Amino acid sequence: MAKRDFLQITDFSREEVEQLFDLAKRMKARAYRETPLAGKTLAMIFAKSSTRTRVSFEVGAYQLGGRALFLSSKDIQIGRGEPIPDTARVLSRYVDGIMIRTYDHAEVEELARFSTIPVINGLTDLTHPCQVLADLFTVKEHLGGWEGKRIAWVGDGNNMANAWLEAATVLGFELRLACPEGFEPNIARYGAAKKHGCIMVTEVPEEAVEGAHVINTDVWASMGQEGEAEARRNAFKGYTVDAELMKLADPKAIFLHCLPAHRGEEVTADVIDGPQSRVWDEAENRLHVQKALLATLMGS
Ligand code: CP
Ligand code: NVA
Repeated sequence: MAKRDFLQITDFSREEVEQLFDLAKRMKARAYRETPLAGKTLAMIFAKSSTRTRVSFEVGAYQLGGRALFLSSKDIQIGRGEPIPDTARVLSRYVDGIMIRTYDHAEVEELARFSTIPVINGLTDLTHPCQVLADLFTVKEHLGGWEGKRIAWVGDGNNMANAWLEAATVLGFELRLACPEGFEPNIARYGAAKKHGCIMVTEVPEEAVEGAHVINTDVWASMGQEGEAEARRNAFKGYTVDAELMKLADPKAIFLHCLPAHRGEEVTADVIDGPQSRVWDEAENRLHVQKALLATLMGS
């Protein structure tokens, strides 16, 4: 059977997402005791920092009977310029799957092309699909599903916003994104989502949030953009998710943030630490959803 990669949410069909979530639900409920990764190893290449992605993949591999190797790109030869195709070919001889977090999405595609084992995108500048899978699972858990729901994104049209566009393409829910001019998501890449007619991009946060069932935001300066932080703080004035903005949403709306968060910038403390916030469930769900992903792509 051909190996499967997971580089973006559009790599899966709606049915595959549903199957993955059924498995993740059984795993979360501790109704799943199998060890499909017994004797198997996941290599985890990190060119950027991580708390959740690193720990949830490492613990997840272990709970499925396998193990994970943390490979900082600074310490392996990739950091000294060893070509990605060579790294892919060599790792494919040692391990059973690769998770990679890096800057340029094209590097992940190249790694996948030259690997004979599954490759999982643990975040690039373009997209963060594992996070949005966990977010969708959290939406399903708390709101029963995404059908007929309005999902709002407020802030930077970054890798997280792009992953939400991918999800809307596959699942067809209504997605409203409020981003300042010049910080829109990569709509061109996700033309299919636009064709669905369920995507709205605006510069007005209130328009995105009105009647929404899920309110999402993320940092204004992503990893690699630290030098732009000050300029971005100015550009994003008025895009803070605060209690007043939350009042425009559906009364049962939930707040999500992939974390890490900057309280007082993209979200106020009373919102992220308040009763509508589901950010800790969201973080926990990385573990369950990624275990389902590992079992599906790498399991025997
Ligand atoms: N949300 C997320 O991916 O967190 P980390 O950067 O800590 O992995
Ligand atoms: N947009 C953020 C997400 C961090 C998990 C970043 O890329 O830094």
